[in-house]
Amino acid sequence: ADDGYRLWLKYDPIANTSQRDAYSRSAQFIAANKTSPIIKSATDELQMGLQGLLGKSVPVLTGAGNRTGGILLEVTANTPEINEEGYRIAKRQNNIVISAKTDAGVLYGAFALLRHLQTGQPIEQLTLASSPKVKLRMLNHWDNPNGTIERGYAGGSLWKWYELPETIDPRYKDYARANASLGINGTVVNNVNASPRLLTGEYLQKVAALADVFRPYGIKVYLSVYFAAPKTLGDRTRPGLKTSDPLDPQVRQWWADKTKEIHQYIPDFGGFLVKANSEGEPGPQDYGRTHADGANMLAEAMKPYNGVVIWRAFVYKADPKADRFKAAYEEFTPLDGQFDPKVIVQVKNGPIDFQPREPFSPLFGNMPKTPLGIEFQLTQEYLGFATHLVYEAPLFKECLDADTYVKGKGSTVAKVVDGSLHGYTHTLMAGVANTGSDRNWTGHPMAQSNWYAFGRLAWDHTLTSEVIADEWVKMTLTREPTAVKRITNLLLKSRDIYVDYNTPMGLSRPWAGVHFAPEPWQSKSPRPDWTAVYYHRADSIGIGFDRTASGSNALAQYQPEVRQQWANPETCPLPYLLWFHHVPWTKKLSTGRSLWDELCTRFYTGADSVRWMQQEWTQVKPAIDPVFHADVAGRLATQQREAIWWRDAWVLYLQEYARQPIPAPFKKPD
Ligand code: GCU
Repeated sequence: ADDGYRLWLKYDPIANTSQRDAYSRSAQFIAANKTSPIIKSATDELQMGLQGLLGKSVPVLTGAGNRTGGILLEVTANTPEINEEGYRIAKRQNNIVISAKTDAGVLYGAFALLRHLQTGQPIEQLTLASSPKVKLRMLNHWDNPNGTIERGYAGGSLWKWYELPETIDPRYKDYARANASLGINGTVVNNVNASPRLLTGEYLQKVAALADVFRPYGIKVYLSVYFAAPKTLGDRTRPGLKTSDPLDPQVRQWWADKTKEIHQYIPDFGGFLVKANSEGEPGPQDYGRTHADGANMLAEAMKPYNGVVIWRAFVYKADPKADRFKAAYEEFTPLDGQFDPKVIVQVKNGPIDFQPREPFSPLFGNMPKTPLGIEFQLTQEYLGFATHLVYEAPLFKECLDADTYVKGKGSTVAKVVDGSLHGYTHTLMAGVANTGSDRNWTGHPMAQSNWYAFGRLAWDHTLTSEVIADEWVKMTLTREPTAVKRITNLLLKSRDIYVDYNTPMGLSRPWAGVHFAPEPWQSKSPRPDWTAVYYHRADSIGIGFDRTASGSNALAQYQPEVRQQWANPETCPLPYLLWFHHVPWTKKLSTGRSLWDELCTRFYTGADSVRWMQQEWTQVKPAIDPVFHADVAGRLATQQREAIWWRDAWVLYLQEYARQPIPAPFKKPD
């Protein structure tokens, strides 16, 4: 039975014997033109994968000689069409040759070849070439030293801090394999709400042990840092400093020393990730300094090394009159040009906080002199935790493909992030991980597809959600063509279905603390922007947040082309309508329905669609492993119950303001 542990690296035998034989004839041996730990990973992976797919053990030879009918791995400068980490796969004298400029490129090519076979594609005329479009492709783990995960829904942390560094859980290697198979080359192992403990010698040894496991898979380790660590981290030989002011020479020296110490443990350390002056975390503003002052101090400490400083732009103040939507842009755009070249500013995809649907953050495109990385959230904090099935690739793509118009038409967010629009040299895509200690890694087994999709898009943002879903299904679930079609279709529709019963038409944040239960009525909190009513603003006239010139004017942060489309309620796409407009309940929309009727239609059809998802899942039962199938079926049943809960909570609450009946077609018992 399949408990989900093997993810998309399952390598079940290829059932079609003529195809298996054809693959077998081309995979009689594996040979590489050099040895190294990463090349060893590549040959191991090929051997393991081929063993599963073809049911035979393929020998790894030290040299191929004149042999043909095998797989050659070569590190060579003679690959003009690819970049440092790219790969090329081609047939040469009846061998399959995987060429790359670097060992890591060869490893990615090996995984690409396996994927090619796993998805059942022909290898007679093999020519594949691919290069990653973004340099730093990383996961951000929000894991705490006590083993919990902030916003984690798949068990506890993967990292067993209490056992490290002596005991190495074999799972660390499987984690690295899964990431490398997607081209992920970095991991921040601890929470952005960082404990300073991770910077102590005690913990650095543990982190170094993880780095040793990840290195042969081309993965670098990064740490989230607690900005006030110089003050709070004393030890027996030296007390903490009086300040963590980034312009204080002692503080700067402290970070220089600490960075040096980290490199003694981890020579290829990736760098720092910093959440500062955000949600109560300390930062440079505590000393009247700017985000740039803070980031540049760390960059200076990092100067002797290759590492980078990733500074998060997720900031907002508790000002009841301000619009939280505008905060990051207001704080960061004035600093453009002031950051050290080692600094990358990491921006969440949307201006608020990983909502089920958000317009792209207006920071993208508006900091031409500062490399901006993008941060997506794989863990489903606002997408139903590990009980609702939501395939996120369409959410990622919607943002990446959005046009900022900063340099005219076609200035997509993806082009900002991959550096091509402004010529950034440092480029970054980060995903807040959805992994945990659950046997199947992600809690909801289908949520593995979000880890997969993130990795594939970080490598190549031009891939479509559909292609990625198709690959993942074939590699993970089944190769039976009708089942593949059905499941791919289900995945592709899942995000819009969730949005419809949860936050349709630009609603957002209808919950309190835990970010799960519907609480659109929630109005009491120490901060106005931590209430639900702040976001939807329902009243007797209508609903939605006016962000046009008559309201907060957040739209002014976008280019005229974007602004004009969204500022006019007639041309603003319905999925974004209530993000920007306070719309009367009775307003007639392009669908022919009034706003109230449209909202009800979406809440009801969204919840009904979960029934459809259940039916589709039942249909594919014969093609899916029974354990896997039952797990998903159970979660879909919960989702169905909860979708109705969401629908009813919203509709009954909003009805108090709209004072209108639920449209006739929906007035039926469930
Ligand atoms: C969200 C999330 C927090 C997290 C924060 C962040 O607000 O709820 O748990 O710390 O994002 O990204 O920093």
